[in-house]
Amino acid sequence: MLGGYFFQSCPTRFFLIGKFDLIREAVIFVVIFCKQPQVQISNLLKHKIVVTCPPKVNHILAQEIEDLGYTVRSIDRMGVRLEGTLNDTMHLNLHLRSGSKVLFEVKFFRANTPEKLYQRMVQINWEEYLDPNGYFSIDSYVKNDFINDSRYANLKAKDAIVDRMVKVCNRRPDTGSKRDKTVLFLHWQLNECSIYIDTSGETIAKHGYRKIPFKAPMLESLAAATILTSRWEGKGTFVNPMCGSGTLAIEAALIAANIAPGLLRENFGFMHIVGYNYAYWEKIRQEAIDAVKEDIDVEIIASDISLEALRAAKENAKNAGVDDLIRFQHCDFKETKIPHGEGVVFLNPEYGGRLGEEKSLEEVYKAIGDFFKQQCQGYMGYIFTGNLNLAKKIGLKTKRRIEFFNGKIDCRLLEYELYAGRKKNDTLPS
Ligand SMILES: C[S@@+](CC[C@H](N)C(=O)[O-])C[C@H]1O[C@@H](n2cnc3c(N)ncnc32)[C@H](O)[C@@H]1O
Repeated sequence: MLGGYFFQSCPTRFFLIGKFDLIREAVIFVVIFCKQPQVQISNLLKHKIVVTCPPKVNHILAQEIEDLGYTVRSIDRMGVRLEGTLNDTMHLNLHLRSGSKVLFEVKFFRANTPEKLYQRMVQINWEEYLDPNGYFSIDSYVKNDFINDSRYANLKAKDAIVDRMVKVCNRRPDTGSKRDKTVLFLHWQLNECSIYIDTSGETIAKHGYRKIPFKAPMLESLAAATILTSRWEGKGTFVNPMCGSGTLAIEAALIAANIAPGLLRENFGFMHIVGYNYAYWEKIRQEAIDAVKEDIDVEIIASDISLEALRAAKENAKNAGVDDLIRFQHCDFKETKIPHGEGVVFLNPEYGGRLGEEKSLEEVYKAIGDFFKQQCQGYMGYIFTGNLNLAKKIGLKTKRRIEFFNGKIDCRLLEYELYAGRKKNDTLPS
């Protein structure tokens, strides 16, 4: 471990040890030895952490973060702020279902010109985070009058980091746009700059199981967020007619079996940071594996009229390790077998504009209302749609209407309490 850190950060110097005399070796050993606690401490030092998410998902994400035992400092439109260590970022990346990126702040500073940005960036101890033989990319969000093109900010930041690494380590990491190694993120608004390590690398909004997307699939983190908002508590019955590539049914199964989404992928940004605490990652990963529930009392049903969709859904469920928890049916949504009793029935129909034409979908939405009313009594019904006009055709009274965005499309999760009696369901309109 001790050699590991130094070896990774400045291998040329390590290599030279063999040529030194005993005293010099001893001096070098002391230098290396002194470096070790630095690495350990940097894994344990608390910094600002920002977890980003799609708009409207922030409160759901904040709840997830609190459920994992962290204190949320603030909730912004696009994310949640907390304090934590690099080890905590691994834990968050492993468990969060509704987040997109886990950003670990390296430094906050003020800059009002690109040159100031360079000067402040070059002072940061990048050698404590970056492997001089490695690779990094930078993304940025820039909103100020000092610069018109965020690519120029990226360039200045990248130059500063590379110059620093050459000065301290005599070597420089490669740079580019790939996200599978170290990823940095620069947030520069007015004169306030934060430079972060994007410990996720590739977004964690994708949970890694969907190899076959089929048509208009929901982003995995969005599907998870809508389910976390629903009354589904990971037990009982979850029915997902019009399942498409299976995202909702698979997310419901992952929640029921307590499978951490991070177990489904192998590479994260934090793995490429110098001093990466592999032992801690293995520990929390094993704990997450041990926490997976084996015997669970759920019935998850996914159906679709398209055989191609079902093929994709089955393959994706297999990738997620939950195919044994989902019963697939090839049928029109109206023919989906709804088990007697209580449960959740959740549909994400096409909503026009994107896939089908609005007019032809009016009948479909009306039929969903009838299906809810006649066949899903005792259930909580949910429809996720981006077309509020079509939603009116359902003809049932909503209990809740929760706002979401699917990309740029303003969407709603509509909740219906489907009483086991006709009277209350008939209190129209939505
Ligand atoms: C928007 S997609 C669902 C996407 C899904 N949530 C996902 O993440 O992959 C709508 C699905 O409804 C299916 N569908 C359309 N009309 C149907 C019908 N009458 N009965 C059953 N499925 C239908 C389509 O085949 C398509 O897979």
